[in-house]
Amino acid sequence: MLFKQQALLRQKLLVLGSLAIGSVLYLVARVGTLDRLQPICHIEHRLVRGPEQIHLRSLQFKRGLLLELRRGNGTKEQLGLQRLVQQLPQAIIIGVRKGGTRALLEMLNLHPAVVKASQEIHFFDNDKNYARGIEWYRSKMPFSFPHQITIEKSPAYFITEEVPERIFKMNSSIKLLIIVREPTTRAVSDYTQVLEGKERKNKTYHKFEKLAIDSSTCEVNTKYKAVRTSIYTKHLERWLKFFPVEQFHIVDGDRLITDPLSELTLVEQFLNLPPRISHFNLYFNATRGFYCLRFNIVFSKCLAGSKGRTHPEVDPSVLTKLQRFFHPFNQKFYQITGRTFTWP
Ligand code: A3P
Repeated sequence: MLFKQQALLRQKLLVLGSLAIGSVLYLVARVGTLDRLQPICHIEHRLVRGPEQIHLRSLQFKRGLLLELRRGNGTKEQLGLQRLVQQLPQAIIIGVRKGGTRALLEMLNLHPAVVKASQEIHFFDNDKNYARGIEWYRSKMPFSFPHQITIEKSPAYFITEEVPERIFKMNSSIKLLIIVREPTTRAVSDYTQVLEGKERKNKTYHKFEKLAIDSSTCEVNTKYKAVRTSIYTKHLERWLKFFPVEQFHIVDGDRLITDPLSELTLVEQFLNLPPRISHFNLYFNATRGFYCLRFNIVFSKCLAGSKGRTHPEVDPSVLTKLQRFFHPFNQKFYQITGRTFTWP
């Protein structure tokens, strides 16, 4: 009997012992993981940004305070104490529509020194908004610390005649980001967005082939907006009348889909930001078929479902015709920008 009780006790001790060892091992492993999954604002790091430094305090407080602001929890006085300001953008994503402008903005916002304007503001391309003046534009900007960079995106800027001059008048040394995709794919993506809008309103719409090809000449229809927008060099040339080419950075929208970090690193360099966006911040979501964003160990998000639509099937001969049409314009675009793509 005594022997049986002793054996039972030994067994219990063994189980408890294993549990204790297991927990210790788990904790060690967890601490190790946490070590690797560092939040983006690491307090001990000194962020060197050219001659000046980004205030660490700014970085630490950024998310928490912005959240409070959005929730309406901060009074003007409290915000004043935190030195929060609404700054005009130091960089703008000017286009191109359907190039991946939303993904680029959201991914840049992973950087602790970047603050994004969530909505497309359409200040420079919309006469009514532009007439409201620069202080109206500023009032649309998010709160930020003086050493942070505010970025907005309005893809219509790239193709709208008046915009380059208007932006130049605001800030002639502003940094301009253009995200491009293979022009034919971009045109089909553009068409898909409009088609979806029509379908939502129970309206019928032409097939892509009918819009992209002029039926009387059988040539590419250059009056079709989705085609015109993809002639990147034509639009860029208008911008170059105001800004030197060094003030533009071209982002490869196709690579932002497959390998976002490499593109984001180039943008960080262009914006003179210390490299803070890492593999930790981007993870591939097989269900979405795209990379999604991880801000910290608890908060991550994917882009809305309207980003990454399935494109309708298009007659291959029409695609080829478009690719041939865009080819010379693409060559010129490579020449001007110094960035070459493997577009057909
Ligand atoms: P499609 O819907 O044609 O696939 P924009 O934001 O300028 O409208 O661009 C939309 C495009 O962003 C989408 O086009 C999609 O391919 C691309 N994109 C790039 N990265 C993405 C991401 N991580 N999640 C969703 N869409 C992304």
